[in-house]
Amino acid sequence: MTAQESPETVAQALRHALVGDDLPDTFTLLGREWDLHRGVFPSTLSAATEVLASIVPYPPGGSFLEIGCGTGVISVTAALHGCASVTALDINERAVANTVANAERHGVGDRVRALHSDMYTALEPVDRFDTIFWNVPWTYVEDDFALSTDLHSAVFDPGYQGQARYIAGAHKHLTDGGRLLLGTADLGDRERLDAIAEEAGVRVEMLRRVRRIEEVRVMEYHLLELHAR
Ligand SMILES: C[S@@+](CC[C@H](N)C(=O)[O-])C[C@H]1O[C@@H](n2cnc3c(N)ncnc32)[C@H](O)[C@@H]1O
Repeated sequence: MTAQESPETVAQALRHALVGDDLPDTFTLLGREWDLHRGVFPSTLSAATEVLASIVPYPPGGSFLEIGCGTGVISVTAALHGCASVTALDINERAVANTVANAERHGVGDRVRALHSDMYTALEPVDRFDTIFWNVPWTYVEDDFALSTDLHSAVFDPGYQGQARYIAGAHKHLTDGGRLLLGTADLGDRERLDAIAEEAGVRVEMLRRVRRIEEVRVMEYHLLELHAR
């Protein structure tokens, strides 16, 4: 069964993590120090970023596209793992600047290009990638739920429309044999995700499942691969 949290609980946790002058502007993850800009999803809010950054199969010498780069931890890690080129997109302009800062900080600014983009819109039709990945906002809310701040877009996906667009638009930007990956958690609505994938003619495979003990519960993070049927 999927354990789910109410939007109110999630919004409260978000506020708790973000309100206050004492929010640090750096954090440590994966043995590195990272810049955290205000208004960008903090990559240490849960273990999702750390877990997923550690298990994504980055294409060595290949091209990697990250949707929703946030602070840039996953895009920078892809470059550090030997991807020849990384494109990092986010609907939040502050996340784009944050990713540029972290790519510079870790010496991969020449291989990570970060662009402001609603899903794939900033890409050229010819842009193709060996791997496309998104650590999704897994909290399902109704279609009319207001994304009142950039941070709401980082955790809530009204009607799972974002994930539907992610899956439907990917094939135009994958190389032959390219891989479409999605990072989520047991708090996500897997039944809805499967229905979206089914509609898009895509089969969902669980690549990796990682359990982590967190402050108040055991969380389970899922790395999925989406295969054209
Ligand atoms: C769960 S956060 C992950 C952030 C970062 N990748 C990490 O792991 O720390 C989801 C990210 O997706 C971005 N996002 C949400 N909707 C988007 C869209 N339509 N197009 C591009 N990015 C989007 C959010 O702004 C946020 O940065």
